Amino acid sequence: MEEKILNITICLGSSCFSRGNKDIVDAIQEYLEDIEMKEKTNFKGGHCFGNCAEGPIMIVNGKTFKSVNPETAITAIDSMLNA
Ligand code: FES
Repeated sequence: MEEKILNITICLGSSCFSRGNKDIVDAIQEYLEDIEMKEKTNFKGGHCFGNCAEGPIMIVNGKTFKSVNPETAITAIDSMLNA
């Protein structure tokens, strides 16, 4: 089994959900396929991170990103991949 080098958790709590995280999940999945990182990524949903006012919240390899949208989510993943 290939080593997972990317850990992404996105908040799937109701507040983040109502702010459009479904689109973010779709965009991330598509992007991971495009860059052939799907097999190397641990992508999961989390419960409310207690930071709803700044949602949607996404955590990439331990770093928290706030108010993400599909574009900034992908920029964040890129920045962590190139860190
Ligand atoms: S619902 Fe996402 S931080 Fe609360």
